[in-house]
Amino acid sequence: MRILVVGGGGREHTLVWKLKQSPLVEKIYCAPGNAGIAEDAECVPIPVEDLQGLADFAEKQNIDLTIVGPEDPLARGIVDLFQKKGLKIFGPNKKAAQLEGSKVFAKDLMVKYNIPTAEYRTFTSPQEAEQYIKEVGTPVVVKAEGLAAGKGVIVCEEEEEALLAVKKIMIDRVFGDAGNRLIVEECLRGEEASILAFTDGESILAMVSSQDHKPIFDGDRGPNTGGMGAYAPAPLVTPEISRFVEEKILIPAVQGLKVEGCSYSGVIYAGLMFTEKGPKVLEFNCRFGDPEAQVVIPLLESDLVPILQAVVEGRLSQVKAQWHEGYAVCVVMASGGYPGSYQKGMPIQGLEKQKGKDNLVVFHAGTNVQEGKIVTNGGRVLGVTGWSQSLPETLRIVYEAVESIEFQGVQYRKDIGQKALKFFE
Ligand code: AMP
Ligand code: GLY
Repeated sequence: MRILVVGGGGREHTLVWKLKQSPLVEKIYCAPGNAGIAEDAECVPIPVEDLQGLADFAEKQNIDLTIVGPEDPLARGIVDLFQKKGLKIFGPNKKAAQLEGSKVFAKDLMVKYNIPTAEYRTFTSPQEAEQYIKEVGTPVVVKAEGLAAGKGVIVCEEEEEALLAVKKIMIDRVFGDAGNRLIVEECLRGEEASILAFTDGESILAMVSSQDHKPIFDGDRGPNTGGMGAYAPAPLVTPEISRFVEEKILIPAVQGLKVEGCSYSGVIYAGLMFTEKGPKVLEFNCRFGDPEAQVVIPLLESDLVPILQAVVEGRLSQVKAQWHEGYAVCVVMASGGYPGSYQKGMPIQGLEKQKGKDNLVVFHAGTNVQEGKIVTNGGRVLGVTGWSQSLPETLRIVYEAVESIEFQGVQYRKDIGQKALKFFE
């Protein structure tokens, strides 16, 4: 098979790395890819926004299957475009991708199909939102409706902060049209975990659970990022909880979408908060998580390709997945200044030493080649990922590698996976 992966981050490197292990795969292209992906696939310089360019490339190169990493092309209808041309592509179509692209759509679906989530109200007027916040009081969560690169959710402990959040979204319009509507939501307390599943719109195939670490600093302090590290599985998610999430959250969501006339296909990702009253959905995403993919995919023992094919061909119920025992951990190494502004082009040292290890791989995110050297080219630069039978051992393997990689200004969290260790005491 000839495969095209769309995207150029750590998630896409992980997908390419896994696909390369499949005997069914003959050639992998990645658009646009990065310096690490270039070692495992042929990178083509087509940006993810150029839907037409990607479709033309897939047609010309006789691509048998395209896999989309990020949410933006999905929300903009890449799947619809490919399907119109008769090209096979993994991911939800534009209508179904609203599950992530519109928080109002997602919340309304959850309420209609009894999926546990926080109480909320939707607003189109800033004055009404402000009035409501004054009535309900804080803490409260203010969310822009649309895609805002993970920055559109503001958890507010004080009323002043919440009123400012409304202003930022609706009056200053810092997220543009993503702030046409906003949601004011009950603030939930608890630990978070993600459960991703493959779905063909009919049945689901759940993956191992995982936990992301969104804030930039140790102890979950500082501003949110795209994700500074992850581990899988999350011991918080017992087999009983997994069953609950499948039966009361994932299946009702997929079935509900079908009833609403938008059959969903691809990955459905539930971001969950484990409250005293049980798991509740914080958000749905319509794709693999980043960095969740970096820890979930390496634990998949089965070939990924037959699963992707079964999803695309609507016969997922015939497929099973085997998972490795043990744990995977990913620590993200980021540029100094991220998630604010940062410099690019810093040479990265120590990558060669990590090659050939059988329980560790360095997935590249923002990297590039300049004058024959690998340099930084983004906020999140590398996702150092390891796996073994025990979580403490995996953490040791990963941090040992992290400490031997360097670039100017590098920052990473030193406490990835710590929350899980309490389950082993
Ligand atoms: P989201 O993009 O909706 O997952 O939100 C990003 C982050 O905001 C989540 O990972 C949570 O940490 C936090 N968050 C979102 N919704 C709520 C809520 N209702 N209560 C508390 N925290 C929330
Ligand atoms: N790691 C969070 C996300 O992929 O949305």
